[in-house]
Amino acid sequence: MTTRLGIPAIAAVSLLVAASPTAGERPEHETRQLRVRAGGTERTLTLADLEALPAVTVEGYRPIGTAKGPLASNTWTGASFRDVLLSVDPRFCEREESSPSVVVRSVDGWTVTLKWPEVCGAASGGEALYNVKGCNECHGTGGEGTAPAGKTPAPALRGRSLTVGEVAPVLRQGGKAHTKYDVYTETFLPDPEIAEILSWLAGAPSGTPRYVVPPERRAILLAYRKNGRPMTGSDGLIQMIVAMDEIASRYSHWVSEIEAGQ
Ligand code: HEC
Repeated sequence: MTTRLGIPAIAAVSLLVAASPTAGERPEHETRQLRVRAGGTERTLTLADLEALPAVTVEGYRPIGTAKGPLASNTWTGASFRDVLLSVDPRFCEREESSPSVVVRSVDGWTVTLKWPEVCGAASGGEALYNVKGCNECHGTGGEGTAPAGKTPAPALRGRSLTVGEVAPVLRQGGKAHTKYDVYTETFLPDPEIAEILSWLAGAPSGTPRYVVPPERRAILLAYRKNGRPMTGSDGLIQMIVAMDEIASRYSHWVSEIEAGQ
């Protein structure tokens, strides 16, 4: 079965410059198998195991690279991340209460965190927006802040009571970090969405979320085909595509390890 998801125009900014390989490093980055740890079980899945799961296709996924400008619009086919996890821990999606997150590692050291609702349910509310709009890339998966070597530290936002009045100018005309790529315009991130992110960061009770990931974007793939063709080793043979992300901050080459929290 092939599910087709039309992703019309994802205006996304890839902040993955650090993860880009130099040409000489590429052959080492081939990933032909995947180690998955979930629910106390560990399994190694081969490309053939992934291909045996139902294929999902995401069309027209179009991230923008910060250094390279817009990347091409590509169609990706692969196994659904959820199916892969469930093949190792069939009860993973019943663990809503503990809401385990999942850490995905690539052979070049790139690490991405996915939240339980993104994998099993419909991600919604401020936390989903925070991830979809790429705040996680610099401010950390839980808003804890990051200080990557050679880059401007992004301050912790979690637990702070910030107002739209304070934050909108920071995002729209503020420091270089936010305006360099002209991402956070009124259209891309309207004030009510900023408000929803801030209320989640402040730890306010969630209530009824305004924002829900649109159904056609609820896909996370471990892709093994690009534009209908098998990928080459230099592309990475298993790539993670998070279709809901409008900034391709969690787009990941050379995925080799998945670890689900308990
Ligand atoms: C490309 C990295 C990057 C992204 C993406 C990013 N930020 Fe930032 N942010 C920074 C950095 C670096 C700073 C501190 C320096 C500056 O203001 O430029 C900052 C500062 C801030 C501040 C000011 C905090 C303070 O202590 O005054 C807020 C609020 C903020 N960011 C919110 C957000 C939100 C909300 C998002 C997502 C919609 C976001 N940022 C996305 C890098 C980023």
